[in-house]
Amino acid sequence: MVQILAPTEHNIADLARALRAGELVAFPTETVYGLGADATNESAIKKVYSVKGRPSINPLIAHYTSLEEAEKDVIFNDVARALAQAFWPGPMTLVLPRQPYCRIHAAATAGLATVAVRVPAHDIARKFLQAAGVPVVAPSANPSGHLSPVRAEHIARHLGGKISWILQGEQATQGLESTIIDATGALPRILRYGTLTQEMIEEVVKLADAHTTSELPQAPGMLLKHYAPRCPLRLTTDNPQPGEALLAFGAQNIPTGFDLVMNLSTTGDLHEASRNLFDFLHQLEERGVTGIAVMPVPDVGAGKALNDKLRRAAAGSVQ
Ligand code: TXA
Ligand code: MG
Repeated sequence: MVQILAPTEHNIADLARALRAGELVAFPTETVYGLGADATNESAIKKVYSVKGRPSINPLIAHYTSLEEAEKDVIFNDVARALAQAFWPGPMTLVLPRQPYCRIHAAATAGLATVAVRVPAHDIARKFLQAAGVPVVAPSANPSGHLSPVRAEHIARHLGGKISWILQGEQATQGLESTIIDATGALPRILRYGTLTQEMIEEVVKLADAHTTSELPQAPGMLLKHYAPRCPLRLTTDNPQPGEALLAFGAQNIPTGFDLVMNLSTTGDLHEASRNLFDFLHQLEERGVTGIAVMPVPDVGAGKALNDKLRRAAAGSVQ
């Protein structure tokens, strides 16, 4: 049976010890909750894949307390360093080449020559990583193909029978997974959109142009069906169906005829909408609505990440 533990110093030390002993520990970050394992321990990594039902070709992100720690495992070029200095700790993941003596076990990286690395900003995550003293691989703490968790209860509900420990935090403040940037080449490319926006990144470095980006292979996991809620989601608000909920955005032109309305942000704030998206989808799923219709969200800034998640959720529900 899973236990949700308060983030006291004592509990953090205990859970760090459990992690070093090869157990899995779910912990909060500012993006979504992660399912942590000692990145140097092959059997712990294999448990992550089996608990999530995750294909072994989909590599994990390694988490650190600092750029200096990450540098022990991957090679930073000047551009990657500039990004790390600008946005870490924070909701950004960099894909970089392995160091010759990289500590991350190959089982966590699908045998790739690169590792995705991140330094989260969340206070509890940082204390936990510090206490762990090893790099921690952590995918989002959800069954593969389901919504990412933004509250401890989401993990207890969907993985509760399969893991023993959850470190308790508040609701995730960002609410969407980190922005992933491939920084192996001369010009970095965004592989996955998050709340750290293209505009913010371009204030620091020049990116490969959007056209090239869209033609490139995405992060391996992006090929898979993702973020599907267990009820159909439509990206149009025409013809409300019985039992269907409306996911609204903004204060204007809210369509009528829906049984239930949840507004991602009445003020049209894309960051507020990002923070609410997965939480609202979890709630609607719990309430057993028969479907979800979604109002359009502007495709700028954090809206790009939001729309990406919505498209995937809609595609996932076709079958
Ligand atoms: O916000 C986040 O990033 C959360 C928190 C817990 O840190 N983690 C997360 O992990 O979203 P996950 O496993 O759900 O998504 C990781 C993504 C996958 O799409 C994977 O394919 C990609 O990162 N990835 C990992 N290593 C990669 C690599 N070496 N090259 C390209 N993509 C990689
Ligand atoms: Mg995930």
